[in-house]
Amino acid sequence: MVISKLFSPIEIRGVTIPNRVFYSPMCEYSCDSDGLATDWHMVHLGSKAVGGAGLVMAEATAVTPVGRLTPSCPGIWSDAHIDAWRPVAKFIESQGAVPAIQIAHGGRKASYTRPWDFPKRNLEAEEDGWPIVGPSSVPFDDTYAVPHELTKSEINQISQNFAQGAVRSLDAGFEVIELHFAHGYLASSFMSPLSNSREDEYGGSLENRCRFALETIESVRNAIPESTPLFVRISSTEFVEGGWDIEDAIQLSKWMKDTGVDLVDASAGGNSANQTVNPSPGYMVPFADAIRREAEIMTGAVGLITEANQAERILVEGNADAVFIGRELMRNPYWPLYAQAQLDGKSEHWPIQYERSSFDATYAGPKA
Ligand SMILES: Cc1cc2nc3c(=O)[nH]c(=O)nc-3n(C[C@H](O)[C@H](O)[C@H](O)COP(=O)(O)O)c2cc1C
Repeated sequence: MVISKLFSPIEIRGVTIPNRVFYSPMCEYSCDSDGLATDWHMVHLGSKAVGGAGLVMAEATAVTPVGRLTPSCPGIWSDAHIDAWRPVAKFIESQGAVPAIQIAHGGRKASYTRPWDFPKRNLEAEEDGWPIVGPSSVPFDDTYAVPHELTKSEINQISQNFAQGAVRSLDAGFEVIELHFAHGYLASSFMSPLSNSREDEYGGSLENRCRFALETIESVRNAIPESTPLFVRISSTEFVEGGWDIEDAIQLSKWMKDTGVDLVDASAGGNSANQTVNPSPGYMVPFADAIRREAEIMTGAVGLITEANQAERILVEGNADAVFIGRELMRNPYWPLYAQAQLDGKSEHWPIQYERSSFDATYAGPKA
């Protein structure tokens, strides 16, 4: 049987991921209270593992209560969160997929309404909201609150919160940690000269604006075993003239590689209300490609990757080492089974319970 690149395993540190279809982290806004994962997370993530994704990543999960994007977002700041996530990670693993988690701090974009709540606004205390924080007192736009400018000791504390969150995630059974440093959330807002106007060592030069990210990576890397893969999602550009761009992202990726990051998940945008971008199929693949070639680090490509041949081409042409797929896997959790049948003529990851429904099964009428 011919094995496509998409369905060949990839080994990162001590973990072998059975194929290169990675389920992209997708916020679900579905915690009942206190950031605890629910049955929704089990079904939502479990279905992607049943469907054959090689790695299934849980959504942006806050390392402190004020880091949640909304009051319905999950957390990993206490032992109760470990207990809530454990069955989810265990189920993903039982299906042969690698359970991964994206740990996050929403910074100046936290304490906001869920996408289906209107009007969109910063939530006040009486609506279960909380005061938000950022590198500088610059709000994202006029629907967001003005963030409290973090002090140096508060910055250091958040790096430690990430390290503790990573350790708790491993306790819960996740095997890969991704740091969410993209989309205008806390680390991303430190990186951009448009949202960071600090005059201390966390602002100004590129090196200073990347300091919080790199210190956090160092804290996390020191807290987790050598064998644990560490991914970082970044915004490769913020799509604004004079803002953070791909050259900055390449330099950051070189520094991240030296600090023990294994894979850069190359997303983009989300830090500025003035961004201009027209998404088209594979529109962010060139970022994964540029970072992979110039920083010589593994990358994941993401963004409107929906076709088996498209995903295969990205890998064969060396643009990335894996593809992160979000919305297409939400629409069709069984996409990897179809994609492998298309590329390799047979699906290897068919769940045993579904075997009589597999593409090459012969079915001669009801037996049971
Ligand atoms: C509903 C929804 C929730 C998302 N949540 C997250 C998230 O938790 N973390 C993150 O890094 N990106 C998040 N994203 C971005 C996706 O992970 C992905 O990068 C984006 O949808 C582009 O990939 P796609 O075209 O395959 O969907 C979200 C996107 C959507 C539509």
